[in-house]
Amino acid sequence: MTKVIDGKAFAAKVRAEVATHVAALKEKGIVPGLAVVLVGEDPASKVYVKNKHASTVEVGMNSYEHRLDAGTSEADLLALIDRLNGDAAVHGILVQLPLPGHLNSELVINRIDPAKDVDGFHISNVGLLGTGQKSMVPCTPLGCLMMLRDHHGSLAGLNAVVVGRSNIVGKPMAQLLLGDSCTVTIAHSRTKDLEAVCRGADILVAAVGRPEMITGAFVKPGATVIDVGINRIERDGKGKIVGDVHYESAAAVAGAITPVPGGVGPMTIACLLANTLTACCRSNGLAEPKGLTA
Ligand code: GUN
Repeated sequence: MTKVIDGKAFAAKVRAEVATHVAALKEKGIVPGLAVVLVGEDPASKVYVKNKHASTVEVGMNSYEHRLDAGTSEADLLALIDRLNGDAAVHGILVQLPLPGHLNSELVINRIDPAKDVDGFHISNVGLLGTGQKSMVPCTPLGCLMMLRDHHGSLAGLNAVVVGRSNIVGKPMAQLLLGDSCTVTIAHSRTKDLEAVCRGADILVAAVGRPEMITGAFVKPGATVIDVGINRIERDGKGKIVGDVHYESAAAVAGAITPVPGGVGPMTIACLLANTLTACCRSNGLAEPKGLTA
C-alpha cells in the first residue's frame, strides 16, 4: 500500500511544537517576533502574507506586518530593513517575493541580518548551508527534509534525485539531502533521459513548476515522492491546484507520496515559524529546539 504523507497533519504537529516552545520562552519574558514585508499588490503574495500573519499569531509569536506601496523606492525599503535589523523585538525578517521590477531582490535580501534571515536566502546562509555549517535553512526544503526523516528515519545511503535547480528549493534541497548522507543528483529541464535518472531515485523530489510532469514512468517502485509543485490549472472548465507530479500514476508505483494540496505546502509556513523560533533562541543564547532545524 502506498503511504500518503499527510503534510497538513505534520505541519499542525510542527506548529504545536513551536507553540509549546514559544510558551516556555514567554515564561522567560521572551516573545519571538516575525516581521513580514510586502511591497505592492500581487494577489498571491497578499494571500501568503495574510496566512503567515495568522499562523504567527496562532503559535503565540508577535507578527509585524509592513505593507509598502508598489512604487516604494529601494532606499526606503533598505531603510526599513536596517530598522528591522536593529529592532531587538524582531527575530525573523521575511521580504515577500517577487518584488516589483524596479527593486533589486538580491540587494534587498542580502541587506537582511543573516541571523534574522528566516527564509535562508541571504548569501551568507547559502554559503553556510553549502559548507555544512549552522545556518538558516529555506523553509520549503526544510519541510521536505522533516517529512523524509519522519518517514525513513535515516536517509543515509539513499539515492535522491531533485528535479529542479532553483535557489529557493532545488539547490538547498540537494544540500540538505547531502547533509543527511544521501547520494544526490540534481536534474533539470536539460537533463538527458530524465525518466531513467528519476527511476534511479529512492527519494524523488519534484520542484520544476510544470503541472503533472512527473508521471509513474519516472518513479522507481517503492520510492518516496515529494511533490513541491503548486500549479493552478483549468480542467473541465474549473480551476484546480495540481503538483509537478501526476498523482494517480505516481502513487500507483511509489511507496510513499505527498499529495497536492495538503503535502509540502502547509509545511512551508510551519517551517517559517520553526525558523523564527530558532533565530530567537540563537539570538538569546538559548539551546535550539530539537527536531525543528536541519
Ligand atoms: N514567495 C513565494 N514563496 C516565498 C518564500 O518562501 N519566501 C519569500 N520571501 N517569498 C516567497
